[in-house]
Amino acid sequence: MSKSVFIKTYGCQMNVYDSERMADVLAPLGYRGAADPESADLVILNTCHIREKASEKVFSELGRLRLLKEQAAAEGREMLLAVAGCVAQAEGEEIARRAPQVDLVFGPQSYHRLPRLLAERRSGGVRVDTDFPVESKFDFLPEEAAARGAAAFLAVQEGCDKFCTFCVVPYTRGAEQSRPAADVVAEAARLAARGTVEITLVGQNVNAYHGDGPDGRTWGLGRLLRRLGEIEGIRRLRYTTSHPRDMDDELILAHRDEPKLMPFLHLPVQSGSDRILAAMNRRHGVRLYLEWVERLRTARPDLALSSDFIVGFPGETAEDFAQTLRLVTDVGFAQAYSFKYSPRPGTPAAELAAAVPEEVKAERLAMLQELLGEQQRAFNRGMVGRRLPVLLDRRGKRAGQLVGRSPYMQSVAVAAPDQLSGQLVEVDILDAFQNSLAGRLADPAASGLCAGAAA
Ligand code: SAH
Ligand code: SF4
Ligand code: F3S
Repeated sequence: MSKSVFIKTYGCQMNVYDSERMADVLAPLGYRGAADPESADLVILNTCHIREKASEKVFSELGRLRLLKEQAAAEGREMLLAVAGCVAQAEGEEIARRAPQVDLVFGPQSYHRLPRLLAERRSGGVRVDTDFPVESKFDFLPEEAAARGAAAFLAVQEGCDKFCTFCVVPYTRGAEQSRPAADVVAEAARLAARGTVEITLVGQNVNAYHGDGPDGRTWGLGRLLRRLGEIEGIRRLRYTTSHPRDMDDELILAHRDEPKLMPFLHLPVQSGSDRILAAMNRRHGVRLYLEWVERLRTARPDLALSSDFIVGFPGETAEDFAQTLRLVTDVGFAQAYSFKYSPRPGTPAAELAAAVPEEVKAERLAMLQELLGEQQRAFNRGMVGRRLPVLLDRRGKRAGQLVGRSPYMQSVAVAAPDQLSGQLVEVDILDAFQNSLAGRLADPAASGLCAGAAA
C-alpha cells in the first residue's frame, strides 16, 4: 500500500543527508514523499540540538503537529509523528514525557531500524530508540531510492571525539567513525550514474576521516578525494566541516592537485583568543590556524575561506574579543557564520561561572557581523566582470530564473531556461550583493555543454 512521509530537516548538512537516507529506508515499506505535512501518513522532524533556539523550535513545531494529527484522526486517518536527529538523541525521554502525541523517537545512529520501530509502535506508547547500536547504520541502509539532484551530500565520517567544551555534538552523534573508502566510492559512483555532478563529503569532523582503504591501508580525506576525482560524471568535490587540528599535508596537496576540488573551505576557528580557545578545548591556537591558512593559500591561491565564530563564551573579555576581530581582519573571509554562545545542558562550559551578559554578547555579535559582512561584500564585488562556472540546481525567486553555486560557494542567479537545471554553465557576473551574485549566461547557445574540465 502506498503511504506518504514528510520529513522536515533542521540543523547541519549531515541532517540533510540523514533525511534523504531515512526516505531510502522507508521507500521499501511503500512510503513516498508527501508535499506537505497535512496530507502525510508519517511526519518526521529531523532535529538539531546545537543551540538553545534550535531545540526550542522542535517543541513549538510539535504543538502545531498535534493539531494536524487530531484533525487527521477526526477525518478517520492515522498520522504518525516521529522525532529524529540530535534533539531526539539528547532529550528522547523528555520528548516522550512532554509530547505524548509523538509516536516514535530515534537518534541519528538508529534510523536504519525504522521498519522495526514502526512495526513495534503498534504495541502502544512512545517508542524511544536512542541507543548507539554496535552495528554501523551504513551497513544496513538500502541503496538510494531516488536520484539526489545535481549537487548532493555524501556522509563519509560521523561523530566527534574533540569535546569542545561548548558543544553537544560528541554526545548526540557519538564517537568518530569513518566509512570504508570503497563504500564511499560506490555511493559516489551511484550518485554520478543518476546525474549528480557535485558531491559534498560531509561529517561532523570530516577531515578526521580515516577509513579503511581498498589497498589495506588507512585513507585520509586527501586520498579519498583524489579517488573520487577519478569518477566520471563527478565534476566538483567539496567537504565540510573541518577542524583545524585535523588538517594534514595530503589534504592541502589535494587543494593544489585535484582540479575537481572546489576552491572553498569552511574551517571553523571559533575565536581569535588563545585563552578562549584553550577554555573551549579547541586543541589549536591562533598560530596553528594562521599557519594552515597560509599553507592552504600557497597550495590554492584563490581559495575562499569560511568559518564559524562564537562570541561571549564564558570569561571572554573585551581584549579576547578584539583578538577575534584582529584574526578576521588578518585572514579575510569570503563568508562566515557567527553565533552568541548558548549554554548547552551537559556540556562542561555550561558549568562555567563567568557568563558574559546578554547585551554584551549582542553588541559583540553585531560588531563581528559587520566586519564579516564587509568582507563578504568585498569578496563578492570582486567577482563582478568575471566569468564563473555555475552549477544550476534550483529555481530562483523570479520566473525564468535558475540559481546555482559558483566554485567559491556563492549563490548565483541567472535568467535561464528550465532545461539548464542540473547543468554546469558559464555565467558572466554582472552584480554582487552580500549573500549572492547575479549574472547572465555567457553564451546561451553553447551553455549547458560547458566543455572542459571540472570547474
Ligand atoms: N563540527 C563543526 C561544528 C558543528 S556545530 C566544527 O567542529 O566546527 C556548528 C557551529 O555551531 C560550531 O562551529 C560553533 O560555532 C557553533 N556552536 C556549537 N555549539 C555552540 C554553542 N553552545 N553556542 C553557540 N554556538 C555553538
Ligand atoms: Fe563540536 Fe568541537 Fe566536535 Fe566541532 S570539533 S563537532 S565544535 S566538539
Ligand atoms: Fe545540529 Fe546535530 Fe548537526 S546538533 S548541527 S544536527 S550534528
